[in-house]
Amino acid sequence: MIITHLSAECYPIAKIGGLADVLGALPKYQNELGATAQVVMPFYNNKFTKTHKFKPVYNDTILMGETDYDFRILTLVDNNLGFDIYFVDVPELLYSDFVYTSDDTERFLAFQIAALDWIAQGETLPDVIHCHDHHTGLIPFMAQESYRYSMLRKIPVAFTIHNAQYQGAFSHDLVYLIPEFKFSRVGLLDWNHLINPLASAIKCSWIVSTVSPSYMDELKENANGLEKLLSDEHAKCIGILNGIDTEVWNTETDPLIIENYTQDTIEQGKQANKEWLCKEFNLDVNRPLFAFIGRLVEQKGADLFPKIFSESLFGNDISILLLGSGEKHTENELRNLKTKFGNKYNAFIGYDEKLSHIIYAGADFLLMPSRVEPCGLNQMYSLKYGTIPVVNSVGGLKDTVEDIFDGGFGICHNNVTVSEVCEAIERANAFYYTDKFKLTRSDIMSIDHSWHASAKSYINVYNSLNPFL
Ligand code: ADP
Ligand code: GLC
Repeated sequence: MIITHLSAECYPIAKIGGLADVLGALPKYQNELGATAQVVMPFYNNKFTKTHKFKPVYNDTILMGETDYDFRILTLVDNNLGFDIYFVDVPELLYSDFVYTSDDTERFLAFQIAALDWIAQGETLPDVIHCHDHHTGLIPFMAQESYRYSMLRKIPVAFTIHNAQYQGAFSHDLVYLIPEFKFSRVGLLDWNHLINPLASAIKCSWIVSTVSPSYMDELKENANGLEKLLSDEHAKCIGILNGIDTEVWNTETDPLIIENYTQDTIEQGKQANKEWLCKEFNLDVNRPLFAFIGRLVEQKGADLFPKIFSESLFGNDISILLLGSGEKHTENELRNLKTKFGNKYNAFIGYDEKLSHIIYAGADFLLMPSRVEPCGLNQMYSLKYGTIPVVNSVGGLKDTVEDIFDGGFGICHNNVTVSEVCEAIERANAFYYTDKFKLTRSDIMSIDHSWHASAKSYINVYNSLNPFL
């Protein structure tokens, strides 16, 4: 079974968040199950592409409206990712060092058209086309409706919603950029008088998945305007929980952490990583260390962090370390807090993969007060590294973290308010001093959130679309 994944991000080539982690792992695990999974993504001018070698496998031009753009398909030389990867290079549109810019419509449309042009001319067509998020959301429509791609019409197209907040909508004035189709079908592109790639993907894909079952339930109630569409299309909707790449996220072998450890050596291992963090960030090592890693946006509750942190740090003998970037005013407020709390608080504003691994290893608790969390990978990395998650019970967090008072292993709250999050932090702080704390953190390391089961679920879904695969 040949599976072609299309995505704007893929770890380790270009990563903004969890979408990249999923694309860097799922195809590898599908290949282990005997499939031939590959990834097609845009070619960015970033650190990865500057330090690796690529070879061209195809070149042509795409027509967008009246303009021709040259494009090339490149592949990676010395590829040890565990799957084949192809890059769409449209130098005039895609060659930027940013994965996302303020106006991505034409860039990502060019990516999708060039990718489909290349796929359609191939000697062997894929058995399944699997698109991820709105940057690839017009592919289901084009594969089904554009005359140019009539040879792709019978190929099942799966679409995964990683985050329904971002939909990529744009004006119908740009409809002329989409390869020609029967105009009476234009409604398949539309939602609320705009061309909406996410809505179009929900309408045109053969199957629509979300990255956790609870998120699918939540989207039917609130999907940033698409809830009715998702309810109407419920027959082809399914929630499949993400997994984590246990070859990358493995405390025994992780080359990025300060000291490796297993369940048997967890106390010593975590302590070594915590000591390094506390020294580096001037924090008192004797206090329980709470951490946050992620995008500083409303979805993650980041707008409330300055208040939550101030209240918790005043009221409790704990330390907080934050690693993240995002909305500028939140970044500034979080930077400014440093002067207030001496050796109880620090923040690294920016993106740092190595530091994130050391934090998962060295922190005692990981905070995730997300208002919305389609899946969330951080809590699964944190469990694997013996760090107890403190989460708002929504989406994938609800599906992966159970409260210690219900016989589980995390600290859960049910609303994102300053008082509820502070209360959860207080409960976590109290738990730190109980007999159960060390046992719990060693137990959670063996919870299995690897991709094995979910990679198989996707294969089963593809098979249900075409039993002859
Ligand atoms: P989302 O995709 O919504 O941002 P996820 O929990 O699915 O959230 O995945 C986030 C991924 O990005 C994790 O691998 C996390 O470690 C990583 N990450 C987020 N922010 C940073 C940062 N500032 N530095 C390093 N890694 C980060
Ligand atoms: C999105 C979601 C996150 C999910 C990730 C990977 O970025 O916000 O919850 O884990 O995609 O699916």
